[in-house]
Amino acid sequence: MPRKTASAAARGARKARRPRIRRIAINTGGGDAPGLNAVIRSVTISAIERGWEVVGIRDGYNGLLMPEDYENNGLIPLTLESVRGITHLGGTILGTTNKGNPLEYPVLQKDGSYKIVDRSREIVRACKKNKIDAVIAIGGDGSLSIANALHEKGLRIIGVPKTIDNDLSETVVTFGFDTAVSFATECLDRLHSTAEAHRRIIVVEVMGRYAGWIALNAGVSGTADAILLPEIPYDIETVAEKTRQRVREGKKFSIVVAAEGAKPVDGQLSVLSKEVGRAERLGGIGERVAQELQELTGQEARHVVLGHLQRGGSPTTFDRLLSLRFGAAAIRALEEGQNGVMVALDPPTVRYVPLKKATRRMKVVPLDSDTMMTARDLGICFGD
Ligand code: F6P
Repeated sequence: MPRKTASAAARGARKARRPRIRRIAINTGGGDAPGLNAVIRSVTISAIERGWEVVGIRDGYNGLLMPEDYENNGLIPLTLESVRGITHLGGTILGTTNKGNPLEYPVLQKDGSYKIVDRSREIVRACKKNKIDAVIAIGGDGSLSIANALHEKGLRIIGVPKTIDNDLSETVVTFGFDTAVSFATECLDRLHSTAEAHRRIIVVEVMGRYAGWIALNAGVSGTADAILLPEIPYDIETVAEKTRQRVREGKKFSIVVAAEGAKPVDGQLSVLSKEVGRAERLGGIGERVAQELQELTGQEARHVVLGHLQRGGSPTTFDRLLSLRFGAAAIRALEEGQNGVMVALDPPTVRYVPLKKATRRMKVVPLDSDTMMTARDLGICFGD
């Protein structure tokens, strides 16, 4: 009789470890990003192919935490029919929320104060009750940290990295980012002609939270004259001098891209609001920089906030394909017996990284990166 090879034995052991999966759930958490629906479709079709049933959890984990507020106990049955024709749609057919992190859930007290409670065990129990064998959690750093906590409490879970901010380490890129950058770049193209016609400075505020990926990539591609990043505290006088120099050279307009998380040297972040149970809302830097530049240079300045337009609309081809690849890879991961991992792009392939590792640190723009060097070689000012 032929002897079993080592790899055949390892395959056998892995097979023995594989869980029996009958029903899985999909969760979309945090801010939406173009490509979410493509992941939902890919996960659903790949799972149904394997004979698994699929449900979607409504509005983050609210469908499980407050089933009485929803039809069908907060779960949407996902079928081949219900995921047809959604690949190109922005948003998420499941709904999402960036309020009420289940690990630090704010409960209003009689005296008007909030008590913070951990509701993660309720989610694990609700999954058991609904016979959910595993969850595919699609989210950014916050949602994937929640996924890791649920995994540590015994839930079988696979993460899929989503965020227009691209600030997740361990994946080369997150889905949603390319769409946001493409949109911001198109806006910069459009703003050039009007800035030039009026000989103005136009400051464009883009999203990205504490990382400057959108600002840098759109700013370089859209040929901005200055880019303000969270990674480089700026000196407004340096930026003003860049615009004056352009005027002296006969280029009587300037385009400045300001990441919402940028801040002046020795200055503060521009924060719009801080509410219990949610991340602080950034914003206002564009207006501030435009005002200061107008005062310093005497040149008329305007500002534009691209805001949630960067999160809306159809995913680009890159984001669609990435989302479909991530969704299918998440199901292959479950089938292989993986648990507590995030799928990650590592070209030309997709690999699995422990959620704990994937959520350990924020990925910010490396100042010695090739794109940064390119920007400096092209004469773009960073205010430093
Ligand atoms: O994380 C994605 C993101 O769009 C950030 O770039 C931005 O700071 C934040 O979400 C905005 O959140 P909200 O939808 O709560 O305004």
